[in-house]
Amino acid sequence: MSKKKQSSDASPAVLPAHIAIVMDGNGRWAKKRMMPRAAGHKAGVAALKKIIESASEAGIKCLTVFAFSSENWNRPEREVAILMDLFVSSIKKYLPELQQAGVVLRFIGDRSVFSDKLKASLQQAETSTQNNNFLNLNIAMNYGGRWDITEAAKKMLQDTSSGAVAAEQINESLFSEYLSLADLPAVDLFIRTGGEHRISNFLLWQCAYSELYFTDVLWPDFNGQELKQATQWFSSRQRRFGRTGEQVEEDAVSEHTK
Ligand code: IPE
Ligand code: IPE
Ligand code: MG
Repeated sequence: MSKKKQSSDASPAVLPAHIAIVMDGNGRWAKKRMMPRAAGHKAGVAALKKIIESASEAGIKCLTVFAFSSENWNRPEREVAILMDLFVSSIKKYLPELQQAGVVLRFIGDRSVFSDKLKASLQQAETSTQNNNFLNLNIAMNYGGRWDITEAAKKMLQDTSSGAVAAEQINESLFSEYLSLADLPAVDLFIRTGGEHRISNFLLWQCAYSELYFTDVLWPDFNGQELKQATQWFSSRQRRFGRTGEQVEEDAVSEHTK
Protein backbone atom coordinates (compact mmCIF):
# COMPACT_ATOMS: atom_id res chain seq x y z
CA MET A 1 0.00 0.00 0.00
CA SER A 2 1.47 3.34 -0.91
CA LYS A 3 0.46 6.88 -0.09
CA LYS A 4 1.49 8.01 -3.55
CA LYS A 5 -1.03 5.83 -5.28
CA GLN A 6 -4.00 7.91 -4.11
CA SER A 7 -4.91 10.07 -7.04
CA SER A 8 -7.71 12.17 -8.39
CA ASP A 9 -8.02 10.09 -11.56
CA ALA A 10 -10.22 7.51 -9.85
CA SER A 11 -12.71 6.35 -12.45
CA PRO A 12 -16.13 6.90 -10.82
CA ALA A 13 -17.45 10.38 -11.47
CA VAL A 14 -18.73 10.93 -7.95
CA LEU A 15 -16.78 9.30 -5.19
CA PRO A 16 -18.52 8.43 -1.94
CA ALA A 17 -16.90 10.36 0.90
CA HIS A 18 -17.67 7.55 3.32
CA ILE A 19 -18.29 3.86 2.62
CA ALA A 20 -19.66 1.44 5.21
CA ILE A 21 -19.41 -2.31 4.66
CA VAL A 22 -21.16 -5.22 6.33
CA MET A 23 -18.56 -7.90 5.63
CA ASP A 24 -20.90 -10.90 5.53
CA GLY A 25 -20.48 -14.41 4.17
CA ASN A 26 -17.29 -15.74 5.76
CA GLY A 27 -19.02 -18.82 7.18
CA ARG A 28 -20.68 -19.78 3.90
CA TRP A 29 -17.43 -19.19 2.00
CA ALA A 30 -15.70 -21.71 4.29
CA LYS A 31 -18.59 -24.18 4.18
CA LYS A 32 -18.50 -24.24 0.37
CA ARG A 33 -14.88 -25.32 0.66
CA MET A 34 -15.55 -27.87 3.42
CA MET A 35 -13.42 -25.74 5.72
CA PRO A 36 -14.13 -24.66 9.30
CA ARG A 37 -15.83 -21.27 9.78
CA ALA A 38 -12.60 -19.97 11.30
CA ALA A 39 -10.92 -20.36 7.90
CA GLY A 40 -13.62 -18.13 6.43
CA HIS A 41 -12.95 -15.45 9.03
CA LYS A 42 -9.22 -15.63 8.32
CA ALA A 43 -9.90 -15.24 4.59
CA GLY A 44 -12.18 -12.35 5.52
CA VAL A 45 -9.30 -10.49 7.16
CA ALA A 46 -7.20 -10.96 4.03
CA ALA A 47 -10.07 -9.58 1.93
CA LEU A 48 -10.32 -6.55 4.20
CA LYS A 49 -6.62 -5.87 3.85
CA LYS A 50 -6.99 -5.79 0.04
CA ILE A 51 -10.11 -3.64 0.19
CA ILE A 52 -8.31 -1.08 2.37
CA GLU A 53 -5.67 -0.82 -0.36
CA SER A 54 -8.23 -0.60 -3.16
CA ALA A 55 -10.27 2.02 -1.31
CA SER A 56 -7.14 4.12 -0.69
CA GLU A 57 -6.09 3.86 -4.29
CA ALA A 58 -9.55 4.92 -5.42
CA GLY A 59 -9.33 8.04 -3.25
CA ILE A 60 -11.86 7.02 -0.59
CA LYS A 61 -11.30 9.00 2.61
CA CYS A 62 -13.48 7.12 5.10
CA LEU A 63 -14.18 3.44 5.35
CA THR A 64 -16.17 1.86 8.18
CA VAL A 65 -16.44 -1.91 8.39
CA PHE A 66 -18.55 -4.19 10.57
CA ALA A 67 -16.32 -6.82 12.16
CA PHE A 68 -18.42 -7.97 15.13
CA SER A 69 -21.95 -6.94 15.99
CA SER A 70 -23.43 -6.65 19.46
CA GLU A 71 -25.61 -9.60 18.41
CA ASN A 72 -22.65 -11.79 17.39
CA TRP A 73 -22.20 -12.81 21.05
CA ASN A 74 -25.10 -15.16 20.30
CA ARG A 75 -22.71 -17.35 18.27
CA PRO A 76 -21.12 -20.49 19.69
CA GLU A 77 -18.61 -19.58 22.39
CA ARG A 78 -15.79 -21.17 20.43
CA GLU A 79 -16.42 -19.09 17.31
CA VAL A 80 -16.54 -15.91 19.41
CA ALA A 81 -13.22 -16.85 21.05
CA ILE A 82 -11.65 -17.51 17.64
CA LEU A 83 -12.84 -14.13 16.39
CA MET A 84 -11.47 -12.30 19.43
CA ASP A 85 -8.07 -13.99 18.94
CA LEU A 86 -8.18 -13.14 15.26
CA PHE A 87 -8.75 -9.46 16.09
CA VAL A 88 -5.65 -9.37 18.30
CA SER A 89 -3.44 -11.25 15.84
CA SER A 90 -4.64 -9.30 12.78
CA ILE A 91 -4.01 -5.94 14.43
CA LYS A 92 -0.52 -7.10 15.39
CA LYS A 93 0.15 -8.38 11.89
CA TYR A 94 -1.15 -5.41 9.90
CA LEU A 95 -0.63 -2.40 12.16
CA PRO A 96 2.91 -1.57 10.94
CA GLU A 97 1.73 -1.57 7.33
CA LEU A 98 -1.37 0.47 8.06
CA GLN A 99 0.73 2.91 10.03
CA GLN A 100 3.19 3.16 7.15
CA ALA A 101 0.34 3.82 4.72
CA GLY A 102 -0.96 6.73 6.80
CA VAL A 103 -4.20 5.06 7.86
CA VAL A 104 -6.02 6.48 10.90
CA LEU A 105 -7.44 3.49 12.75
CA ARG A 106 -10.41 3.81 15.05
CA PHE A 107 -12.58 1.20 16.72
CA ILE A 108 -16.22 1.86 17.45
CA GLY A 109 -18.44 -0.14 19.76
CA ASP A 110 -18.53 -1.14 23.40
CA ARG A 111 -15.04 -2.36 24.20
CA SER A 112 -15.57 -2.51 27.96
CA VAL A 113 -16.32 -6.24 27.80
CA PHE A 114 -13.20 -7.16 25.80
CA SER A 115 -10.19 -8.88 27.34
CA ASP A 116 -7.40 -6.61 28.63
CA LYS A 117 -5.21 -7.90 25.82
CA LEU A 118 -7.66 -6.89 23.11
CA LYS A 119 -8.40 -3.55 24.79
CA ALA A 120 -4.68 -2.78 24.91
CA SER A 121 -4.23 -3.73 21.28
CA LEU A 122 -7.10 -1.45 20.18
CA GLN A 123 -5.71 1.40 22.25
CA GLN A 124 -2.22 0.96 20.84
CA ALA A 125 -3.50 0.86 17.26
CA GLU A 126 -5.49 4.05 17.79
CA THR A 127 -2.73 5.93 19.56
CA SER A 128 -0.06 5.03 17.06
CA THR A 129 -2.13 6.07 14.03
CA GLN A 130 -3.97 9.10 15.40
CA ASN A 131 -1.69 11.65 13.75
CA ASN A 132 -1.98 10.10 10.31
CA ASN A 133 -4.15 11.79 7.74
CA PHE A 134 -4.65 9.45 4.83
CA LEU A 135 -7.57 7.02 5.04
CA ASN A 136 -9.89 6.95 8.06
CA LEU A 137 -10.49 3.28 8.77
CA ASN A 138 -13.13 2.58 11.40
CA ILE A 139 -13.65 -0.96 12.58
CA ALA A 140 -16.93 -1.68 14.35
CA MET A 141 -16.49 -4.27 17.08
CA ASN A 142 -19.20 -5.15 19.58
CA TYR A 143 -21.02 -2.36 17.83
CA GLY A 144 -24.74 -1.86 17.43
CA GLY A 145 -26.51 1.13 15.91
CA ARG A 146 -29.03 1.13 18.76
CA TRP A 147 -26.20 1.01 21.30
CA ASP A 148 -24.58 4.01 19.58
CA ILE A 149 -27.79 6.04 19.75
CA THR A 150 -28.47 5.02 23.35
CA GLU A 151 -24.92 5.96 24.41
CA ALA A 152 -25.29 9.32 22.69
CA ALA A 153 -28.57 9.94 24.51
CA LYS A 154 -26.94 9.01 27.83
CA LYS A 155 -24.02 11.40 27.29
CA MET A 156 -26.29 14.19 26.16
CA LEU A 157 -28.46 13.68 29.21
CA GLN A 158 -25.38 13.98 31.43
CA ASP A 159 -24.55 17.29 29.75
CA THR A 160 -28.12 18.47 30.22
CA SER A 161 -28.04 17.51 33.92
CA SER A 162 -24.73 19.30 34.46
CA GLY A 163 -26.04 22.40 32.70
CA ALA A 164 -23.52 22.20 29.84
CA VAL A 165 -26.42 21.81 27.40
CA ALA A 166 -29.89 23.32 27.71
CA ALA A 167 -32.84 21.13 26.69
CA GLU A 168 -33.93 23.85 24.21
CA GLN A 169 -30.59 23.51 22.39
CA ILE A 170 -31.21 19.88 21.49
CA ASN A 171 -31.66 19.26 17.80
CA GLU A 172 -30.47 16.66 15.27
CA SER A 173 -27.21 18.43 14.68
CA LEU A 174 -26.33 18.65 18.38
CA PHE A 175 -27.42 15.06 19.01
CA SER A 176 -25.28 13.73 16.18
CA GLU A 177 -22.20 15.21 17.86
CA TYR A 178 -22.54 12.57 20.57
CA LEU A 179 -22.54 9.63 18.15
CA SER A 180 -19.60 7.51 16.99
CA LEU A 181 -17.89 9.02 13.92
CA ALA A 182 -19.43 12.45 14.60
CA ASP A 183 -16.41 14.12 13.02
CA LEU A 184 -16.75 12.19 9.74
CA PRO A 185 -19.17 12.70 6.86
CA ALA A 186 -22.41 10.69 6.81
CA VAL A 187 -22.22 7.33 5.06
CA ASP A 188 -22.79 7.83 1.32
CA LEU A 189 -22.52 4.23 0.26
CA PHE A 190 -23.57 1.21 2.35
CA ILE A 191 -22.36 -2.12 1.00
CA ARG A 192 -23.41 -5.55 2.23
CA THR A 193 -21.86 -8.69 0.84
CA GLY A 194 -23.20 -12.22 1.31
CA GLY A 195 -26.64 -11.77 -0.21
CA GLU A 196 -28.69 -10.65 2.78
CA HIS A 197 -30.66 -7.45 2.38
CA ARG A 198 -30.58 -6.10 5.90
CA ILE A 199 -28.75 -3.56 8.03
CA SER A 200 -28.30 -5.88 11.05
CA ASN A 201 -28.10 -2.95 13.47
CA PHE A 202 -25.04 -1.35 11.82
CA LEU A 203 -24.76 2.45 11.61
CA LEU A 204 -28.44 3.36 11.87
CA TRP A 205 -28.26 7.14 12.24
CA GLN A 206 -25.22 7.53 10.02
CA CYS A 207 -26.86 5.56 7.18
CA ALA A 208 -30.12 7.52 7.15
CA TYR A 209 -29.52 8.70 3.56
CA SER A 210 -26.99 6.15 2.29
CA GLU A 211 -27.28 4.48 -1.07
CA LEU A 212 -27.68 0.76 -0.33
CA TYR A 213 -25.70 -1.74 -2.37
CA PHE A 214 -26.19 -5.46 -1.89
CA THR A 215 -24.16 -8.16 -3.57
CA ASP A 216 -24.31 -11.96 -3.39
CA VAL A 217 -20.50 -12.12 -3.43
CA LEU A 218 -19.28 -13.63 -0.16
CA TRP A 219 -16.96 -11.32 1.77
CA PRO A 220 -13.70 -13.29 1.28
CA ASP A 221 -14.30 -13.06 -2.50
CA PHE A 222 -15.00 -9.31 -2.48
CA ASN A 223 -12.11 -7.53 -4.17
CA GLY A 224 -11.02 -4.25 -5.74
CA GLN A 225 -13.02 -4.97 -8.88
CA GLU A 226 -16.18 -5.56 -6.84
CA LEU A 227 -15.56 -2.35 -4.93
CA LYS A 228 -15.18 -0.50 -8.20
CA GLN A 229 -18.49 -1.90 -9.40
CA ALA A 230 -20.13 -0.66 -6.20
CA THR A 231 -18.64 2.84 -6.49
CA GLN A 232 -19.57 3.02 -10.18
CA TRP A 233 -23.12 2.06 -9.30
CA PHE A 234 -23.03 4.76 -6.61
CA SER A 235 -21.96 7.42 -9.06
CA SER A 236 -24.93 6.58 -11.27
CA ARG A 237 -27.43 7.23 -8.48
CA GLN A 238 -29.32 10.49 -8.38
CA ARG A 239 -29.25 11.65 -4.78
CA ARG A 240 -32.26 13.84 -4.25
CA PHE A 241 -32.37 14.39 -0.48
CA GLY A 242 -36.08 15.09 -0.69
CA ARG A 243 -35.95 17.28 -3.78
CA THR A 244 -37.42 16.41 -7.17
CA GLY A 245 -35.30 14.92 -9.93
CA GLU A 246 -35.82 18.09 -11.98
CA GLN A 247 -34.47 20.28 -9.20
CA VAL A 248 -31.36 18.13 -8.94
CA GLU A 249 -30.80 18.33 -12.72
CA GLU A 250 -31.26 22.10 -12.77
CA ASP A 251 -28.78 22.51 -9.91
CA ALA A 252 -26.26 20.33 -11.74
CA VAL A 253 -26.58 22.49 -14.87
CA SER A 254 -26.14 25.78 -13.00
CA GLU A 255 -23.19 24.32 -11.06
CA HIS A 256 -21.66 23.31 -14.40
CA THR A 257 -22.08 26.70 -16.02
CA LYS A 258 -20.79 28.70 -13.03
C1 IPE B 1 -19.49 -12.26 8.77
O1 IPE B 1 -19.56 -13.52 8.20
C2 IPE B 1 -18.43 -12.19 9.84
C3 IPE B 1 -18.95 -11.99 11.20
C4 IPE B 1 -20.19 -11.83 11.52
C5 IPE B 1 -17.97 -11.98 12.25
P1 IPE B 1 -20.50 -14.63 8.81
O2 IPE B 1 -19.72 -15.40 9.83
O3 IPE B 1 -21.78 -14.06 9.29
O4 IPE B 1 -20.75 -15.53 7.55
P2 IPE B 1 -22.08 -16.32 7.18
O5 IPE B 1 -23.20 -15.33 7.14
O6 IPE B 1 -22.29 -17.37 8.22
O7 IPE B 1 -21.79 -16.91 5.84
C1 IPE C 1 -23.52 -8.76 10.55
O1 IPE C 1 -23.42 -10.04 10.02
C2 IPE C 1 -22.36 -8.46 11.40
C3 IPE C 1 -21.04 -8.51 10.75
C4 IPE C 1 -20.79 -8.64 9.49
C5 IPE C 1 -19.96 -8.37 11.64
P1 IPE C 1 -24.28 -11.26 10.59
O2 IPE C 1 -24.06 -12.38 9.66
O3 IPE C 1 -23.98 -11.51 12.00
O4 IPE C 1 -25.76 -10.69 10.46
P2 IPE C 1 -27.17 -11.38 10.64
O5 IPE C 1 -27.31 -11.75 12.09
O6 IPE C 1 -27.20 -12.57 9.76
O7 IPE C 1 -28.16 -10.35 10.23
MG1 MG D 1 -23.58 -13.76 8.37
